[in-house]
Amino acid sequence: MAPSVSISILIVVLCIFMNVPTIVIAAGSVATFKSSSLKQEVQALMESGWWSGSSNYTSSHCDWPGIKCNFGGSITEIDIAGKIYLGDKFRKFNFSSFPNLVRLSLGNNQILGSIPFEIGSLSKLTHLNLSHNYLTGQLPLSLANLAKLVKFDISFNGITGSIPREFGNFKNLLELNLSHNKFTGPIPSTLGLLTNLSDLNLSFNEINGSIVSEIGLLKNLLNLDLRQNKLTGPIPSSLGHLTNLVSLSLSSNQINGFIPQKIGNMKNLNGLFLDNNMLIGMIPSYLGHLTRLVFLFLDFNKINGSIPLQIGNMKNLRYLYLNNNNLVGQIPLSIGHLTKLETLNLNWNMISGPIPTELANCFLIKFLSLSHNYLNGSVPSWVKDLYAPIKIDLSYNNLTGNVPISLIRMREFNLSYNSLEGRYLSATMICVVTSKLFGYFLHSQCRVKNLVLPMKTHAELKGTKNGNLFSIWNYDGNIAFEDIIQATEDFDIRYCIGTGGYGSVYKAQLPSGKVVALKKLNRLEAEDPTVDKSFRNEVKMLTEIRHRNIVKLHGYCLHKRCMVLIYEYMERGSLFCVLNNDVEAVELDWTKRVNIIKDIAHAISYMHHDCIPIIVHRDISSNNILLNSKLEQAFVSDFGTARLLDPNSSNQTLVAGTYGYIAPELAYTMMFTEKCDVYSFGVVALEILMGIHPGELLTTLSSSSSSSSSRNMMLNEILDQRLPPPNRIVARDIFFVATIAFACLCTKPKSRPTMNWVSQEFLSRKKPIAKPLHAVSLWQLKNEENFMVGDIDTQS
Ligand SMILES: *[C@@H]1O[C@H](CO)[C@@H](O)[C@H](O)[C@H]1NC(C)=O
Ligand SMILES: *[C@@H]1O[C@H](CO)[C@@H](O)[C@H](O)[C@H]1NC(C)=O
Ligand SMILES: *[C@@H]1O[C@H](CO)[C@@H](O)[C@H](O)[C@H]1NC(C)=O
Ligand SMILES: *[C@@H]1O[C@H](CO)[C@@H](O)[C@H](O)[C@H]1NC(C)=O
Ligand SMILES: *[C@@H]1O[C@H](CO)[C@@H](O)[C@H](O)[C@H]1NC(C)=O
Ligand SMILES: *[C@@H]1O[C@H](CO)[C@@H](O)[C@H](O)[C@H]1NC(C)=O
Ligand SMILES: *[C@@H]1O[C@H](CO)[C@@H](O)[C@H](O)[C@H]1NC(C)=O
Ligand SMILES: *[C@@H]1O[C@H](CO)[C@@H](O)[C@H](O)[C@H]1NC(C)=O
Ligand SMILES: *[C@@H]1O[C@H](CO)[C@@H](O)[C@H](O)[C@H]1NC(C)=O
Ligand SMILES: *[C@@H]1O[C@H](CO)[C@@H](O)[C@H](O)[C@H]1NC(C)=O
Ligand SMILES: *[C@@H]1O[C@H](CO)[C@@H](O)[C@H](O)[C@H]1NC(C)=O
Ligand SMILES: *[C@@H]1O[C@H](CO)[C@@H](O)[C@H](O)[C@H]1NC(C)=O
Repeated sequence: MAPSVSISILIVVLCIFMNVPTIVIAAGSVATFKSSSLKQEVQALMESGWWSGSSNYTSSHCDWPGIKCNFGGSITEIDIAGKIYLGDKFRKFNFSSFPNLVRLSLGNNQILGSIPFEIGSLSKLTHLNLSHNYLTGQLPLSLANLAKLVKFDISFNGITGSIPREFGNFKNLLELNLSHNKFTGPIPSTLGLLTNLSDLNLSFNEINGSIVSEIGLLKNLLNLDLRQNKLTGPIPSSLGHLTNLVSLSLSSNQINGFIPQKIGNMKNLNGLFLDNNMLIGMIPSYLGHLTRLVFLFLDFNKINGSIPLQIGNMKNLRYLYLNNNNLVGQIPLSIGHLTKLETLNLNWNMISGPIPTELANCFLIKFLSLSHNYLNGSVPSWVKDLYAPIKIDLSYNNLTGNVPISLIRMREFNLSYNSLEGRYLSATMICVVTSKLFGYFLHSQCRVKNLVLPMKTHAELKGTKNGNLFSIWNYDGNIAFEDIIQATEDFDIRYCIGTGGYGSVYKAQLPSGKVVALKKLNRLEAEDPTVDKSFRNEVKMLTEIRHRNIVKLHGYCLHKRCMVLIYEYMERGSLFCVLNNDVEAVELDWTKRVNIIKDIAHAISYMHHDCIPIIVHRDISSNNILLNSKLEQAFVSDFGTARLLDPNSSNQTLVAGTYGYIAPELAYTMMFTEKCDVYSFGVVALEILMGIHPGELLTTLSSSSSSSSSRNMMLNEILDQRLPPPNRIVARDIFFVATIAFACLCTKPKSRPTMNWVSQEFLSRKKPIAKPLHAVSLWQLKNEENFMVGDIDTQS
């Protein structure tokens, strides 16, 4: 079987090469006698096994589900889409037995495997639909024989390889849908030959190279979707010839260059999606000709210049996304002509000037996002007249003056980080803003002290040292960099309560009386605005993190000379200090120690598994674990600080962790992964049990030829001797925690558990079989496997 198949493939390939396709394959299906050809069809149907579940084969095959025949009884259509499970029975279909088949619809039939090359014998086929299956492998070249194809849909499969040049043969093709596969390589220029094509959809693949200018030859194209690929190069201006186009989507590629003026020729365009690329230059004013446009997505590019006046001509526009670009200038007044507008997003640009009152004409606006710009002037009072606003975000601008009383009851109206005055805002508004900011949704949790609207008036700010305006606040609106300077007497050493790899920590009493911990980071970069932007982003993310075992980051202050993070102040200081103080170490009894280890695990697990993007700490040590006043709860601090100082977010890092906590593989990989944190956690857990850093023990344990002394050392011998020996119940917990700590210390990162696993183990009721601590050697602990047996209830 196998050799003959490969020989036939060879023949087909050769024939195509010599430009005489079809002959070899078609030869088998030439029907001399109708009756014998029909018999072959019926036999092939039965042998396919496709209908074995639904038919007893006694009725005429033309009556079987999904089959249509011509007058002669020969099959013309098979449409069993979504009805029959095919699995690998697709291969059993004898394609050469159906000379009259015109339509084959097998969408959603759970087909497995690759497309057999024999498919090329269905020479009359006009409709082929194989979408939503599990097809893999490359498209067989024999497909090119299906020269009559009108619609070809193979979307949502796992097809690999490049799009065959031979697709240029499908002269009758109207719809080609290859989306959601794994196609690689370039768009073949031969697609330009498919001049009847109305729909070309290559979206969600890994196609690279540039958009070939031949696409501009497809004059009948209505929809062109090349979204989510790896396309590079510019948008060819030949696309301007596609004047029938209704939808053009090039989103999420790496397309660069300017937006061609000629796109303005696509008068029928309803949706233009160029977002998430690397487009530069200005928005061509010529786009104003696209008066049928409903969707205009140019967000996440590098577009500069100002928004052209002509945008006001796009009277049908409902969704306008220009956010995350480098737009400057003012919002054009003509925007008021877009009376159908529902979403306007201009976030993250450098747009200045006032918010035009003309925008009030766009009263259908539901989402208005103008945040992170340089808009000035007053808060627009007309927003209260919008028909059904859902979210209005004017945060991070330079709006001044009072907040009109009429706006106080508006929900989801975000004015934080402006230069507003007025201390009389109603509690409801504060609550909405606060609760959103902090990820809570309960009004009862709102407290005025978390006010995020900066209340400082412009006049007050002017008095700031050196006139350096600076600070973006996330905490009490009443604090400015100046306040910090005052509270710490310009970071005087007397206020310093600790120094770490990232900078120094100061204790500061703010004018409000509140005591906070200030972490002053040494800046690596000078005044690079992009660093500020990424820093703001990172901190914003960190301030939004809420976990009962992570030190709350109240806010930050960005100043030319330094960056300051404002944390919740913890009176008892670090775990390191507590363990080093004999009185406090005793207060930290066994139960508290076990709980603290669990707290730390939950916090790290949260950052590794529940945050988007995930956060790797990179410096877990007893210095970075803080304890509450009763020493009953642990808080991990400094999460994300490493990344703040390393704005490229690469895992390769200059900021090393603390000596003695660093995973062994870091010495040669220099890559921080979650598993490095897992190792550091293991060290800290052991340190908590031992009362001191395990030091040498770590190296002894990791060497394979472990010395007999450590091999024979028992768990009870390493426990902190300042505490009385644990009772039986606590001993069980200690054994449990120690086992997990040792698993975390595996030399191979892959063998360490994930923090999610650790955290889940701590939460579960499973407990190991109790063993007296003096009967467990460290060697055993290290080599323990599958220790989680039994349940606490049945054991005790
Ligand atoms: C088998 O086919 C006959 C003729 O079409 C039909 O009457 C009968 O109900 C079918 N039996 C089953 C079990 O499907
Ligand atoms: C497929 O059908 C053709 C005739 O239509 C026959 O010659 C051939 O042997 C069949 N192939 C298989 C694998 O059954
Ligand atoms: C192909 O089949 C799928 C699922 O059955 C369907 O959604 C899709 O519209 C079909 N494609 C064409 C071109 O008709
Ligand atoms: C386009 O389709 C028409 C029928 O709709 C057909 O007559 C014509 O030959 C096709 N064009 C090409 C280039 O094949
Ligand atoms: C593939 O694209 C064609 C033409 O645009 C469309 O008719 C068909 O529904 C699409 N297939 C799926 C599964 O969406
Ligand atoms: C496209 O990707 C392939 C690998 O899939 C690579 O060999 C080729 O160089 C890439 N081409 C371009 C133009 O980037
Ligand atoms: C392209 O195909 C995908 C999946 O079939 C579909 O979601 C998308 O809407 C299509 N694009 C166009 C423009 O029809
Ligand atoms: C916009 O960007 C282009 C290309 O980067 C540059 O040549 C041009 O000077 C910029 N224009 C403005 C107004 O900044
Ligand atoms: C807004 O800023 C511009 C300069 O960018 C300035 O000319 C104008 O006076 C400011 N308007 C207000 C109301 O502050
Ligand atoms: C904010 O506005 C004030 C006064 O209108 C001005 O002095 C300051 O430069 C503005 N800031 C920015 C970032 O535009
Ligand atoms: C207000 O904007 C800030 C900054 O963009 C954001 O963090 C906060 O979640 C927003 N609040 C609301 C209520 O939308
Ligand atoms: C950094 O590490 C994280 C977690 O291990 C990983 O998801 C991410 O892809 C890495 N980034 C780079 C640039 O290597």
